[in-house]
Amino acid sequence: MQLMSLKSANLLLFFIYFIQFYSHTHSRTFTFSNGCSSDVWVGTQPNGGIPILAEGGFALAAGETMSLVAEEGWGGRFWGRTGCTFDADGIGSCETGDCGGLLRCAGAGGDPPASLAEFTLNGANGDDFYDVSLVDGYNMEIRIIPSGGNGTCGSPGCTTNLNPQCPEALQVLSGGTVVACKSACAAFGSPQYCCTDAYGSPTTCPPTTYSKAFKSACPTAYSYAYDDASSTFTCTGADYKISFCTSGSPSSSGGGGGSQSPPPPGTGILSPPSSSAAEKLVQSLITHMLNSFICATAIISLLIQCKKSLHH
Ligand SMILES: *[C@@H]1O[C@H](CO)[C@@H](O)[C@H](O)[C@H]1NC(C)=O
Repeated sequence: MQLMSLKSANLLLFFIYFIQFYSHTHSRTFTFSNGCSSDVWVGTQPNGGIPILAEGGFALAAGETMSLVAEEGWGGRFWGRTGCTFDADGIGSCETGDCGGLLRCAGAGGDPPASLAEFTLNGANGDDFYDVSLVDGYNMEIRIIPSGGNGTCGSPGCTTNLNPQCPEALQVLSGGTVVACKSACAAFGSPQYCCTDAYGSPTTCPPTTYSKAFKSACPTAYSYAYDDASSTFTCTGADYKISFCTSGSPSSSGGGGGSQSPPPPGTGILSPPSSSAAEKLVQSLITHMLNSFICATAIISLLIQCKKSLHH
């Protein structure tokens, strides 16, 4: 009886160890970093048929960092929401990037205008494809920083605050402040700006004055539907940091205007916020030592059992 339960305990420990080992080598980490002076409510939306990360959204206080683990092959987009207020159930609204008034977007996208960080992990040839897109407009500074991958692994982004330079026709105002900048397509809806009808191909939809303004402020970001290929980046097997307000300048929401509600617990975030690299190192060391200990214990007791059954 006792022997059996010991055996199954060992099996369980092995199982746990291999699950951890497996997830360590076959998943990717997206780390979100809020360099803005006000809170950002991150939104996540997967492509069709792909798992939702962190239930679709979470709060990230000014200066805070948060990590999510995604499976190989994940694809979808991230964006920052500003000026949000949510109650204890995660119901409320955001000035920009709102997803149906929910903290956890649960698969829904954000209302444009919103700057997007878009990913396809393990696409053609197993490479990751990623970009920063202003095709649906701009709401805040966002940048993608890959680490540990092979390839060119560029770092696209829009780290200029476009809101103060947003043309009047494209402005989204809140309390007299520009909080976001619409795409010309969203503002005017004409085929010339939306690249539809007669303008429905890369050759017939050239850049416009509006998209050129976005492009010159943020050269590595997609400025309109048929922006040139220089806006798509590739890397292989990397982890990615998505950083809001990298330059450390005040966030585009002009001080937030929203509540300073604390991040709610249980949003599906796998790693807790970590304040320093040293803390992370200690955490990973402890995890490693625990794993080694579990493994060694399991091996030793299996050996003992083996010996016992041989003696029978
Ligand atoms: C990068 O390339 C090296 C050499 O081909 C390979 O050993 C390594 O596993 C690759 N790393 C990733 C993250 O793909």
